Amino acid sequence: MDHKENFYKYQAQTTPHPLGLVVDHASGSYIYDHLGTAHLDFVAGVSACSVGHAHPEVVRAVQQQAASYMHVMVYGEYVQTPAVELCRRLAELMPEPLDTTYLVNSGTEAIEAALKLARAWTKRQKILYGKRAYHGNTMGAMSVMDYPERTDPFGPLIPHTRPIAFNDYSALDQIDPETAAVILETIQGGAGFIVPDPDYLKTLKSKCDAVGALLILDEIQPGFGRTGRLFGFEHFGVVPDIVVMGKGMGGGMPIGALTASKAMMETFATKPKLGHITTFGGHPVIAAAALATLKIISGDGFFSAVLEKEQLLRRELQHPKIKEVRGKGLMLAIILENPNQANELVLRSAKRGLILFWLLYEDKAVRITPPLTISNQEIGQGCQIIREVLDSLDA
Ligand SMILES: Cc1ncc(COP(=O)(O)O)c(C=O)c1O
Repeated sequence: MDHKENFYKYQAQTTPHPLGLVVDHASGSYIYDHLGTAHLDFVAGVSACSVGHAHPEVVRAVQQQAASYMHVMVYGEYVQTPAVELCRRLAELMPEPLDTTYLVNSGTEAIEAALKLARAWTKRQKILYGKRAYHGNTMGAMSVMDYPERTDPFGPLIPHTRPIAFNDYSALDQIDPETAAVILETIQGGAGFIVPDPDYLKTLKSKCDAVGALLILDEIQPGFGRTGRLFGFEHFGVVPDIVVMGKGMGGGMPIGALTASKAMMETFATKPKLGHITTFGGHPVIAAAALATLKIISGDGFFSAVLEKEQLLRRELQHPKIKEVRGKGLMLAIILENPNQANELVLRSAKRGLILFWLLYEDKAVRITPPLTISNQEIGQGCQIIREVLDSLDA
């Protein structure tokens, strides 16, 4: 039996029809299958492979750290240089008062920790979240998701959470003195790469400040350079109380983190102590990969190159069937005329060696989130396939 058959037989599936690409190896912007065919990656592991596949500096950092020491103790007890350096560097790069970082294992876990922190810090329970948000798949994260079709089978979820429409100023009246926090994706991903109106987050933050509620921004997808800044919120003149990150942070390794002020973060150490603990959070090999990734993306000219590639993509993605290209930086979504076109574009492009993917809720959308290191030539090649496939599709 080959690996593909074993995949369907022994490995639990998340949909009835996984794409089933058999991966041999991956490098730069390409994934190579078992037959040696190169697949140009316009998805980057759903925004996670920020610096491309097997970036040599990330590989070197991982190898060196693995040979030096791996897991030695639960996070928070010992001083482990990669984790310390990562947190220190983040503090240097983030605006005040965001100076203390808690490292965990995934984006979802970081969301859980952020929700817990907001409740413990404010001693309030009510949490507002964006309609059609996606923050992960655990009980807490699903409680701020608003997708009954996907969440009802697992209910009841956590109480005192309520959705507000994203970008709707009139909904901000729901932020009241009982509100612990508002949690939003800085750019809504699954909903269709919806960018906030220029003043929306600023207005929302003032409203939070007025009643003592916290603003939690989920930067798991837009963060770590994907929008052409280290964090997406930097485009909108706002500083959240808690920033949650993950995905591209690890350069292909699993990590999540939340950053807040030192005073707020001390809640986890004292009120109660051991308020959020995790065996592998701050893992030295993963932290070394994240530190190497951060060095690459915060290097000279990296963010401006991301913004130039966005402009190139926008020029190349002009076609009568493309109604809109939404998003920011290299977090873009093509909006087509109907869901069938989106579906066919993903499937037919796959046959031509271009990896595309769907969005969670917006079925007319196709995700374009390539590695941030993709070259102009690779962008040109991929977009040509997209245009040719769209030419071949019925209306
Ligand atoms: C905005 C956002 N939040 C949270 C998550 C969950 O992160 P993870 O899958 O690492 O747990 C994701 C993952 O897709 C995401 O895009």
